[in-house]
Amino acid sequence: MLREGWIFFKNFIRQNKFCFIGTIILILTVPPLTIFSFVDNIYHVESPAWQQFFYLGLFPLMIFGLALFCVGIFISRQGFFSREVISDLVQKADKAKVLKETAFITSVVLTIVLVCMGAIVYSAYHYTESVNFCGKLCHRVMTPEYTAYTYSPHAHVKCVECHIGPGASWFVKSKLSGLKEVVEYVSKTYPRPIPTPLHKLRPARETCEECHRPEYFIGDKLVIKEKYSPDKKNTRLYTVLLMKIGTGGMWAKKPHGIHWHVSPDVEIFYKYTDEKRQHIVEVTKIENGHKTVFKRSGEKIEGKEVRVRRMDCIDCHNRPTHIFYSPEEALDLEFLKGRIPTDLPYIKKVALEAITQKYHSRKEARVKIAQYIRAFYQKNYPRLLKDKTQEINQAIQGATDAYMRNVFPQMNISWNTYPNFLSHTGCWRCHNEEFENSEGETITQDCTLCHNILAEDEENPEILETLLGQ
Ligand code: HEC
Ligand code: HEC
Ligand code: HEC
Ligand code: HEC
Ligand code: HEC
Repeated sequence: MLREGWIFFKNFIRQNKFCFIGTIILILTVPPLTIFSFVDNIYHVESPAWQQFFYLGLFPLMIFGLALFCVGIFISRQGFFSREVISDLVQKADKAKVLKETAFITSVVLTIVLVCMGAIVYSAYHYTESVNFCGKLCHRVMTPEYTAYTYSPHAHVKCVECHIGPGASWFVKSKLSGLKEVVEYVSKTYPRPIPTPLHKLRPARETCEECHRPEYFIGDKLVIKEKYSPDKKNTRLYTVLLMKIGTGGMWAKKPHGIHWHVSPDVEIFYKYTDEKRQHIVEVTKIENGHKTVFKRSGEKIEGKEVRVRRMDCIDCHNRPTHIFYSPEEALDLEFLKGRIPTDLPYIKKVALEAITQKYHSRKEARVKIAQYIRAFYQKNYPRLLKDKTQEINQAIQGATDAYMRNVFPQMNISWNTYPNFLSHTGCWRCHNEEFENSEGETITQDCTLCHNILAEDEENPEILETLLGQ
């Protein structure tokens, strides 16, 4: 059955070098890729190594094979496809039968190949949208962002949900800028550290508001901060704030508090002169159509490049997921998690000194942080080094982790490379005494505007006794 057709088909492929090599490549790549993409779609393969092998190794190879095959057909117009060759091949058999059978075989093979390729392209596309692709492939480049992300509240939100968001046009834009990044990655010309703000980032309102709706926020938020002092007892101190997170105003009578800035009734534009949007020179508030301009007194902007931006979520939440801590905060977190024992004298102070030294590589840091902490106890508490070896080792591990999660010398990321605007640093870019409107009013800095301070660096704050009922 279909013998004549097969013979024609085989001869066609054998005689044409391009088609021949193309076919071999397709036979070798399409079946394993198809199986892998089905497995990946059903069981979600997590291993980056396998994904890279199939989607970044075999997949391009398959495309190469397909291209060779097409080239083969194209140039065979002059060689194989030429009338003489075909008529020679067909001569010996029944012409109509050969043509019919060949057409049948070609369409079956083509259908199978297309279905397989559909499945493969679909999975490969999903792979390029995955956290493994964004965070792990460009290993050295994105490790800092990826590491910070894995410990953040958004660790289960895919990179693309914030960086690209829904819709076809952003999809195309992201793939185009992705190509540029791949070139930079391969040629090692990417900037270190990767600069922020990302000027091409999609407006946060379109991405964050897929999940969060400040118009529906209600009430305030209690924030309790625990810190450990650099004294002998590593004294634990509490700061308690009632953050007036307010609302963008949907259920409340009107927008108020911190999320007033993103209410539908409010638009805030600001002008800035530096790359990092840290130096703001003019703020315009439009509330219910009513416009007020605040100008920085004595600011000369002639000759400087001035850019305008509409304020959105990431003017405050610039680090919703790539949260790099200060050395103090990073250590406090390790204390809170119980990773650094609090009964070692001066451990906060020593660990802080150890992790803020300058190291050229993470490897060097790992060795020297341990040496630094051991040397301190060797000198000042030699008995402790023997009696509490385990605790000291644990503390060294905790301090090293605090460093490893926040400092990446190979990307020039050190402590405080990326400022967090969800703090006075961010708010006081506008809320300071220097901005005045035409009536001489400033953007207020009143301590109770954004929060009530219920306790500040206290050992046993009364408010906590009340709250905890102790
Ligand atoms: C919750 C939203 C969110 C998620 C999820 C997210 N990012 Fe980001 N990312 C941001 C924001 C916001 C910025 C800072 C934007 C700015 O200031 O312009 C940023 C900045 C970056 C930067 C620039 C360097 C820097 O640290 O500022 C890189 C690189 C980056 N992200 C990579 C990733 C990767 C890789 C993933 C997934 C592993 C990811 N992002 C997931 C919101 C997100
Ligand atoms: C795909 C959904 C999704 C997107 C998109 C998203 N978030 Fe979130 N976000 C969450 C979830 C879920 C939580 C709660 C995590 C938890 O409580 O552990 C959260 C928590 C938060 C928190 C509270 C964090 C804390 O410390 O408790 C803030 C602030 C926040 N998101 C801001 C943002 C900003 C800003 C953006 C846009 C750049 C954004 N989110 C985009 C899902 C999302
Ligand atoms: C003016 C600065 C500012 C802007 C703009 C802003 N936020 Fe916030 N947001 C804050 C502050 C401050 C907090 C309280 C953080 C804390 O101390 O835990 C907060 C808290 C939150 C929380 C946590 C609420 C809770 O109850 O735990 C979410 C979610 C959030 N913001 C999302 C957003 C989104 C989405 C946008 C943009 C539509 C936005 N914010 C715009 C400053 C801002
Ligand atoms: C880009 C400039 C800008 C930044 C950055 C900014 N604000 Fe504002 N904020 C304003 C302006 C303008 C007003 C209105 C002042 C007025 O009307 O007098 C305002 C008003 C407020 C109000 C009062 C809202 C009301 O009417 O109830 C709060 C609360 C507030 N800001 C909190 C914050 C916090 C917290 C941050 C930092 C996380 C912050 N702002 C960062 C510009 C800014
Ligand atoms: C424009 C808004 C705004 C104003 C005005 C403001 N703060 Fe804050 N404050 C914040 C934000 C935002 C945080 C960070 C909250 C967080 O980390 O969750 C903060 C945190 C703090 C903290 C805790 C810091 C820490 O990490 O231990 C203290 C203390 C504090 N503020 C004191 C003050 C005092 C005193 C004033 C008056 C001079 C003031 N604030 C005015 C927004 C404001």
